[in-house]
Amino acid sequence: MVSSRPGSVANQLLIIGCRKLISASLGLVLRRNRSVNNQLTGNIRMALPVIFSGSKKKRDQILAIDLGTRTTKAVIMQRRGDVHVLSRYLLLDAPIFDKALPPELLTEHLKAVSQAMESKSRLVSLTTNVNDALVKHIEIPRMPLDDMRLILKHNSRNYLQQDLQNYIFDCHLLPESAPDTSKPSSAVPKQKVLVAGGKAQFVNELVEGVKNAGLVANHILPGMIGPVNAFELAQPQAFSNEVVALIDVGFKSSTICILQHGELVLSRVVNMGGDRLSLAVADSMNISYAEAEGIKVGMAGEVQSALESIITPLGRELRASIDFYEHQADRAVSCAYLTGGSTRSEFIVQGLQQELMIEAKTWNPCSFMKLELPPQQAGELEQVAPQLAVAIGAGIAAL
Ligand SMILES: Nc1ncnc2c1ncn2[C@@H]1O[C@H](COP(=O)(O)OP(=O)(O)OP(=O)(O)O)[C@@H](O)[C@H]1O
Ligand SMILES: [Mg+2]
Repeated sequence: MVSSRPGSVANQLLIIGCRKLISASLGLVLRRNRSVNNQLTGNIRMALPVIFSGSKKKRDQILAIDLGTRTTKAVIMQRRGDVHVLSRYLLLDAPIFDKALPPELLTEHLKAVSQAMESKSRLVSLTTNVNDALVKHIEIPRMPLDDMRLILKHNSRNYLQQDLQNYIFDCHLLPESAPDTSKPSSAVPKQKVLVAGGKAQFVNELVEGVKNAGLVANHILPGMIGPVNAFELAQPQAFSNEVVALIDVGFKSSTICILQHGELVLSRVVNMGGDRLSLAVADSMNISYAEAEGIKVGMAGEVQSALESIITPLGRELRASIDFYEHQADRAVSCAYLTGGSTRSEFIVQGLQQELMIEAKTWNPCSFMKLELPPQQAGELEQVAPQLAVAIGAGIAAL
């Protein structure tokens, strides 16, 4: 779903929420970037507007859950006027399963999260990992958004270079760039679009799992978008004025999003993350995975070469995406902003910085929020914060 009028996001949610025909669609909710003259840029929110069947009253509290492959991260966020409040967070081992997460296990897990969080709100905003949601930039002839979704559904090979059966899509219009007068203009005017897609069955199962846990799904957000939303509010200057790379180092995979003056211009997935780091330590020392993980977290310097054997190719792959962008756009990326569990390690951050060849640092996705956390959580937040970016981005999408 795309909104182009101020304040229309909630209305659109409601409208789409009432329409049965997209009752399980991934939606893209866009908030206008007020700093840029009426352009559709900036904060991108993918949402599952479906089941939002309440009144037009804005949600003032949300339980946002990042269903990470290794660790579930959850936050309770509130909106009081212009102020976002963080009142609790949770890190919990993700359920272990073979191929697809069985719905009953998802329900049990969500119940455990909501009990631990003592959430007053039943509304949840969820994220999916990169394997369950597709995010892609395309060009498509101009047409109404409803038609665009249908065209993608029936012609995924044409526009997304993949046969995606039983997928649902949503589209976010990207701002027009200045016309290239050196090339003859094409007969059919085209529009740049950011597409989100997910398997209908997966989305339905997620919604069902949430419902069976006694909760109400308000949004589903591709995890990759979470840090983008949080970055806009936590680092507004860099967001609007710079070209930056947001990198999230996950468990099996990592993501890179390049933001050019508030616009998401490139996103890529690299199939390496914390899991490969632990495996490399386990292999090199011939110890169990659990022991290796402990050493990685507690004594990274002792297993330097094993960690470097993964950090180096990971950093190079990420650098290749930056090179690709810089070559295409003829602009330089000024800084890499890192999130994800592995970036809680200074050793890993430094190793990545070396390969990325630009300044690379973690950032605090909670910095724009008023903190009303229990004292122990407040004390630990600084350490945990880089791992919460995706959950916070999902919370922002809903508030
Ligand atoms: N202090 C630390 N030092 C190094 N690694 C850490 C530290 N804390 C957590 N990790 C690693 O972070 C990884 C989990 O990160 P994260 O929670 O970002 O992944 P995830 O969100 O579950 O995965 P994905 O995003 O791929 O779905 C694990 O491999 C864990 O070992
Ligand atoms: Mg993650």
